[in-house]
Amino acid sequence: MKRPQVVETVSDLRAVVREWRKQGLSVAMVPTMGALHDGHVSLMRIGLERADRCVVSIFVNPTQFAPTEDLDKYPRQLAADLDRLAQAGVQLAFTPTAAEMYPEAFAAKVTIGGPSAGLETDFRPTFFEGVATVVAKLFLQALPDLAIFGEKDYQQLCVVKKLCRDLDIPVEIVGAPTVRDAEGLAMSSRNAYLSPDELAQARELNKILRHAAQALHLGADAQQTLDEARRQILAAGFGSVDYVEARESDTLARWRRDREGRILVAARLGATRLIDNVEIVRS
Ligand code: PAF
Repeated sequence: MKRPQVVETVSDLRAVVREWRKQGLSVAMVPTMGALHDGHVSLMRIGLERADRCVVSIFVNPTQFAPTEDLDKYPRQLAADLDRLAQAGVQLAFTPTAAEMYPEAFAAKVTIGGPSAGLETDFRPTFFEGVATVVAKLFLQALPDLAIFGEKDYQQLCVVKKLCRDLDIPVEIVGAPTVRDAEGLAMSSRNAYLSPDELAQARELNKILRHAAQALHLGADAQQTLDEARRQILAAGFGSVDYVEARESDTLARWRRDREGRILVAARLGATRLIDNVEIVRS
């Protein structure tokens, strides 16, 4: 099992990628915040299938956390993460410090409208600004041909696609299906915070969403179906539901029955906030 090369600075990252380019090799990137799980490994596999080399960034990005959120508590486990990269066959890890990414007097902010409106933004107003800023930086630092993002963070995937489209960033964005456990719980670094009881309750979330998506597919009224899903999520033991909404798959505008759609949810279980989404199969 070959260990990945690890670089911490933008200039070292560029030197490795430049060398690959000289050899005519294509490059995939998987941006992550570490605490890697099978979901991340599936993104790396897609990267390695689609390109000759894969670089994974591991950076807990402070600008996407609100002051009240879990930045300090966010799981950090670099040694275990590097083992995962080695198992997946990834060639390069980029593990910058916060000072490398945001040197003193850093003042840029990338704001993307469109798909960032509503949903997460209603509860985490500066989240996508932080994500778009760091992803734009990572792309300009590594200049990959393609980058892979999980569909679990569906709104983020739409925002990153829009970022590249609107700013003419020549990186192909590939969306990868959500990896779930046997009972449908989406893999997430935040699942590590759940107690055994909460884990059992969390597993209800995807079942409720799939049921609602099936009802919409069969023609049920959208608002009634979403209200019922909200009731079921609370009955399953969640403390609150931030949102459960049906949106169009590409623009995230309010879903119309003749369009591709997704139900997106964010709900709180104890101190943990979980998100998930499912496709509404078109009737
Ligand atoms: O999805 C994540 O882990 C993060 O939001 C990302 C895309 C790595 C940006 O920090």
